[in-house]
Amino acid sequence: MRIAVTGGAGFIGSHIVDSYIAAGHEVLVIDDLSTGKAGNLNPKALFAKLDIRDAAAIDRVFTQFRPQIVNHHAAQIDIRRSVADPAFDAAVNIIGSINLLEQAVKHKAEGFIFASSGGAIYGETPTPAPETAVKAPISPYGAAKAAVENYMFVYQRTFGLPTVALRYGNVYGPRQDPKGEAGVVSIFAGAILAGETPTIFGSGDQVRDYVFVGDVARANLLAIDYLSQRAGTPETPDDCAFNIGSGVSTSVNELYRMLAEVIGFDKEAVHGDPRPGELMESRLDISRAREVLGFVPETSFGEGLRKVVDWLRG
Ligand SMILES: NC(=O)c1ccc[n+]([C@@H]2O[C@H](COP(=O)([O-])OP(=O)(O)OC[C@H]3O[C@@H](n4cnc5c(N)ncnc54)[C@H](O)[C@@H]3O)[C@@H](O)[C@H]2O)c1
Repeated sequence: MRIAVTGGAGFIGSHIVDSYIAAGHEVLVIDDLSTGKAGNLNPKALFAKLDIRDAAAIDRVFTQFRPQIVNHHAAQIDIRRSVADPAFDAAVNIIGSINLLEQAVKHKAEGFIFASSGGAIYGETPTPAPETAVKAPISPYGAAKAAVENYMFVYQRTFGLPTVALRYGNVYGPRQDPKGEAGVVSIFAGAILAGETPTIFGSGDQVRDYVFVGDVARANLLAIDYLSQRAGTPETPDDCAFNIGSGVSTSVNELYRMLAEVIGFDKEAVHGDPRPGELMESRLDISRAREVLGFVPETSFGEGLRKVVDWLRG
């Protein structure tokens, strides 16, 4: 199929592009390289350097490429930046997404896949959250993800565009920037390998669902089959959504211990002040993805951590 992948020069998007190309699809990457890297671009993919806020530019490249699937991973991903400048976050993450939905309909795409967030749209989840759990985002970034899911439902029901939202846990793996704002695994591993002791904000008892990027890329392959085979009309945005995680929750302290062991580092972590607004518990129920998509996370946390460390060591 012809698939346009926005954010395809970024961490997650580039792994998706690689797996789509390996599966024999034709891929157009759309990315403004604001955080993505030219070095991540798959040489077999076409590339358009453009900003998703520019609807006319998307129109032009869609006219040429005629995507059958639009896979949307481009985003402003820095939660703190979304708090500092919610209008900028909304311009990229909401208006940019609407531009893509609009162009997908105009150019008769057959499906739309969106990188949503299981970590940012549910609130505290003391037990694993199913897709139907209450949505209580506490950042503009999370509010934007929830808003786009609502727009996708509109585009599905009103304009007939089949859509699917993949609500990721904390994705980690090779190519995640160790100097970036997100991605505690890469940040900690990068620091330890540089001989520095990472700082854990707060007690370190915060739990997250860490999911390996290779598993996320596979979910994006399964999402294509799902879009082509889906029967019936969704009744709520949750009907078009899947939690994509490992199904295992791990505390930051545990993550630190496992990573220190993989690297052979024997210093205790330093603890800093807790970050205001940070969730204590983010747990995902991935049964729906298992049952409906056939998604099975294959990479254990220990194995995934070793892959990140090997990648950082080069
Ligand atoms: N990393 C995670 O744990 C996680 C969790 C949930 C959801 N997500 C979502 O997955 C997607 C990919 O995230 P990532 O971690 O790979 O981050 P990333 O920063 O590596 O990827 C984002 C990509 O989008 C591009 N981009 C940003 N603004 C753009 C614009 N205006 N126009 C065109 N391209 C633009 C960047 O250059 C980059 O290549 C995002 O939508 C993010 O919100 C990530």
